[in-house]
Amino acid sequence: MRKKIVAGNWKMNLNTDQGISLVNDLIKEKIDLKYNQTVIICPPFTHIGSLKMLLDNNEGSKIQLGAQNISDKASGAYTGEISGEMLKHLDTRYVIVGHSERREIYNESNEMVQKKVDAVLSSKMTPIFCCGEPLKVREVENQNDYVQQQIEEGLFHLNGETMSSLIIAYEPIWAIGTGRTASAAQAEEMHAFIRSILEKKWGSEIAEDVTILYGGSVKPDNAQELFSQDNVDGGLIGGAALDANSFIDIIKALA
Ligand code: PGA
Repeated sequence: MRKKIVAGNWKMNLNTDQGISLVNDLIKEKIDLKYNQTVIICPPFTHIGSLKMLLDNNEGSKIQLGAQNISDKASGAYTGEISGEMLKHLDTRYVIVGHSERREIYNESNEMVQKKVDAVLSSKMTPIFCCGEPLKVREVENQNDYVQQQIEEGLFHLNGETMSSLIIAYEPIWAIGTGRTASAAQAEEMHAFIRSILEKKWGSEIAEDVTILYGGSVKPDNAQELFSQDNVDGGLIGGAALDANSFIDIIKALA
């Protein structure tokens, strides 16, 4: 069963108190989620422990915790890194892997992204695997090949059963934080293409199960149109996830 998901990627924003206050505002709203809908927040690592306690005391909120990054290593002398086990211990269920900011600013290659996908899976969490093309690739209409290569090199080593529980986020880099969203038609075209890649590799049943999120300047006023596309199963939200009212309105657009 394909899940519909809204995930907030807070990036390097908000201190712990501000994060707690934002989550309290989300909890207060008592958002009514359908059986196939999930809301995830991905705060900075430093906030996860406090937010776990807050969410444990408000189980009815149904908000799930995710992280924004993970070490490809399991444990040991890796100064500054955070392991899958550390995240899992705090009830983190999802981890964003291969976000374009990590690929571009921190030089994460497809090979590193693949290792991080495996690190997430070996700690029994779910990767939110990000892919998407830069503007110069879109301008020469090479986005399909570009995204296909990211998926082949990041995910093709997985078996079908593992794949069916994965989340993919298509985030055209030219739309991230720019206020320039892909049109609903552009998003749907790429999402359908991604699903066709999954179908060729793992078959139609598995391809149908994979949740494919759109990310890149999703806001309350464009969420509904994007989410109503056949192959768009929700969104990965950056800027608009930092404001409780905007995030709540985007969640409501899932229906
Ligand atoms: P944005 O970020 O919504 O601020 O464009 C999305 C993301 O980077 O995940």
